[in-house]
Amino acid sequence: MLASRLQRKACNCKFEYGVGVNTIKRFPLIAIALMMWFVAANVAVPRAAGQEQEAAPTPGHAVDADQGKTLFQANCSNCHGVDASGGEGPNLRGVPQSLGDTAVQGIIRRGLPGTAMPGSSTLSANQVADIVGYLRTLDASKGAEAVTGDATKGKALYDSNGCSTCHMIAGQGGSIGPELTRIGAERGPSDLKERLLDPGANLPIVSEGGAFGARWTRDLMYRAVEKDGHVVEGMRVGEDSFTIVLKDAGGHFHGLRKPDLRSLEKEPGKSFMPSFKDTLSAGQMDDLVAYLMTLKGAQ
Ligand code: HEC
Ligand code: HEC
Repeated sequence: MLASRLQRKACNCKFEYGVGVNTIKRFPLIAIALMMWFVAANVAVPRAAGQEQEAAPTPGHAVDADQGKTLFQANCSNCHGVDASGGEGPNLRGVPQSLGDTAVQGIIRRGLPGTAMPGSSTLSANQVADIVGYLRTLDASKGAEAVTGDATKGKALYDSNGCSTCHMIAGQGGSIGPELTRIGAERGPSDLKERLLDPGANLPIVSEGGAFGARWTRDLMYRAVEKDGHVVEGMRVGEDSFTIVLKDAGGHFHGLRKPDLRSLEKEPGKSFMPSFKDTLSAGQMDDLVAYLMTLKGAQ
């Protein structure tokens, strides 16, 4: 999974998202906001774990898996599940075995910028080692949340329900919703099901990582009314004190100066994505989730 992340192709996002050089010159704030969004959307930034000098556990530190379990429950279980089997974040069973302890320690300390995986500045290197030690005690062959559906049928449902008009998988599809190329490596099955049933609820809070460090709710919808009464509704992709950038239902970006707006309101719970609660049966929903869980990025 880590390897696939490193291999991910960079794209020339400026053109892909239709933001011309003139726009960048005329609206530097918007350009910055968009750049932050590109970083956040994780489009062109390969991540390399373990490259920087990392605070290492004290030499001779005896890994305490029980302590690691306690720390995991307090810091990680709300996203990765109480037994590390996945939720808003992926199943972590077997991850230290496949990525190596040092890489996993690096991910825990730095987070994965642009995703919901936060870094931790409070856990010590020894505590991080304890958490990884705990993860190593878990049986990788058991515990991952079961995927019950049929992925082949799920793929057909994906194609026949218009998902690709809004979502991109491996370069194919629209860009109104988030890219799904690696969604099976990012979330667990029941979390995905909730997102299909109830779009707009529990939107992911992503971390910028690095120097920005900010955390913000991705895909949150806003309704802006300009002074002339013109309404722009869209998902926030960037914001600073004076400017907000919204992406509308057609995927177009609107850079708005806040002092020029009559009103600007958040629309929590709202999403451009329709709920599939009434269109798909429970079995079809499981099939669709089974298909989404196969999407783990380039191998
Ligand atoms: C706010 C939710 C959240 C919290 C809290 C959280 N994670 Fe994550 N984590 C995620 C998400 C989402 C991903 C997937 C990111 C991606 O690849 O897009 C992830 C990815 C990871 C990965 C990489 C898995 C892989 O196969 O590449 C590891 C390791 C990890 N988390 C460990 C932890 C540990 C240990 C903690 C507690 C110290 C923790 N996480 C806390 C959401 C969270
Ligand atoms: C009209 C556009 C649209 C259509 C059609 C659509 N989606 Fe979405 N989807 C979105 C938007 C916007 C979001 C982000 C906001 C949210 O989660 O509600 C989203 C979010 C998601 C997520 C959560 C992504 C994450 O990072 O957690 C998944 C999974 C998903 N969609 C799958 C699907 C599937 C499968 C279909 C077809 C059955 C579909 N979508 C149809 C627009 C769409």
